[in-house]
Amino acid sequence: MLSEQENELLTRTGPGTPMGELMRRYWIPALLSEEIPEPDCPPVQVRLLGEALVAFRDSKGRIGLFDEHCSHRGTSLFYGRNEDCGLRCIYHGWKYDVEGNVLETPAEPPDSNLKHKVRHKAYPCREAAGIVFTYMGPKEKMPLLPEYPWTKLPADHTFVIKSFQECNYLQGLEGDCDSSHISYLHSSNHDLYKQDRVPTLIAEETDFGVRMVAIRKGGPENNYIRITNFLMPLTGHVSAKSNRVHCWAPIDDTHSWKYSLSFGSEGRPLSEDEKLSLKKEVGPDYKKLRNIHNHYLQDRRGQENKTYTGIEGFLAQDSCVTESMGVICDRTREHLGKSDTTVIAIRKFLLKAVRSLQEGQEPPCLIRDPEKIFRRPVSTGAMLPSDASWRQLLGQVS
Ligand code: FES
Ligand SMILES: [Fe+2]
Repeated sequence: MLSEQENELLTRTGPGTPMGELMRRYWIPALLSEEIPEPDCPPVQVRLLGEALVAFRDSKGRIGLFDEHCSHRGTSLFYGRNEDCGLRCIYHGWKYDVEGNVLETPAEPPDSNLKHKVRHKAYPCREAAGIVFTYMGPKEKMPLLPEYPWTKLPADHTFVIKSFQECNYLQGLEGDCDSSHISYLHSSNHDLYKQDRVPTLIAEETDFGVRMVAIRKGGPENNYIRITNFLMPLTGHVSAKSNRVHCWAPIDDTHSWKYSLSFGSEGRPLSEDEKLSLKKEVGPDYKKLRNIHNHYLQDRRGQENKTYTGIEGFLAQDSCVTESMGVICDRTREHLGKSDTTVIAIRKFLLKAVRSLQEGQEPPCLIRDPEKIFRRPVSTGAMLPSDASWRQLLGQVS
């Protein structure tokens, strides 16, 4: 359970809020690369941390992410012309490059100095694994974009899709940090998790965020160990059977994007089946086919004799339990137990980070040294003899 003040602190991410300021110190997902697939393609609207933005890819393939509203008199640049290395507003023709420099103000007299006085708000972008990441914080504080095992793989080794989540980002992120729900919510699919439905949960802080361990009895002499990770600030690394990463991006305080990324290990491209399992759950607008408005197409008959939920697919199952809490879960009304150990750890980690930033300290897990840019968190599911330490799995790479 959290106090009302703590819940507010964790869930509000708009400009000027403490958590919003914290998020703006990291590279966070802004959109999919496929949304702006080629140079000079149409721009798209992006809403992120409560800000209205527009993204485009210029003639040289560079990405611009702007304040949606033109610096001249506020028209939406979404309707603009993406041409000749810049985005041009359709109202009076002001043209901007990807860095927000005003290149032309054609309605002004030729000797006008106006374009040199204005700088349009623009955020830097980088692409990795089919996701466009952006940094929305102060320029002089910009960290390096971390490299993970999935960010440097060949294109056919990764597949990413996003889905619209009708609730605050933290509810989704907490689901990724909650190993105990797997024995229930997803239980028809995970026999190993059924044998012991009361796992021992361990959380420990690392230089990337929080490592989470769930230990279940897997037989008389074995334990089944599941290791997952929370990567600061918005990523759950949840692989077990397949390699999977979830990145959460707050659209505003009551909506978020979930980026679901699957990846093969080095030398193993993903099969079409693996891609389809993600793709088939969302429509072309990235909205879930099973969603809160159709009760996730829950099948009560199926709930009786097939699955725990009667809802098909991990995405819909996870979305159901998080979106149905309400758009911002009231955490003052919870009753937490041992099974919430890792969720509590994540909240503590985030609260500590947000408070220390308020006190003027540097946020955790930022990378500034290029030598330390590569991170290899271990996420795995494996059987071990009961007397073996789960730590020996940390030598293995997912
Ligand atoms: S409002 Fe954009 S050019 Fe005038
Ligand atoms: Fe889940």
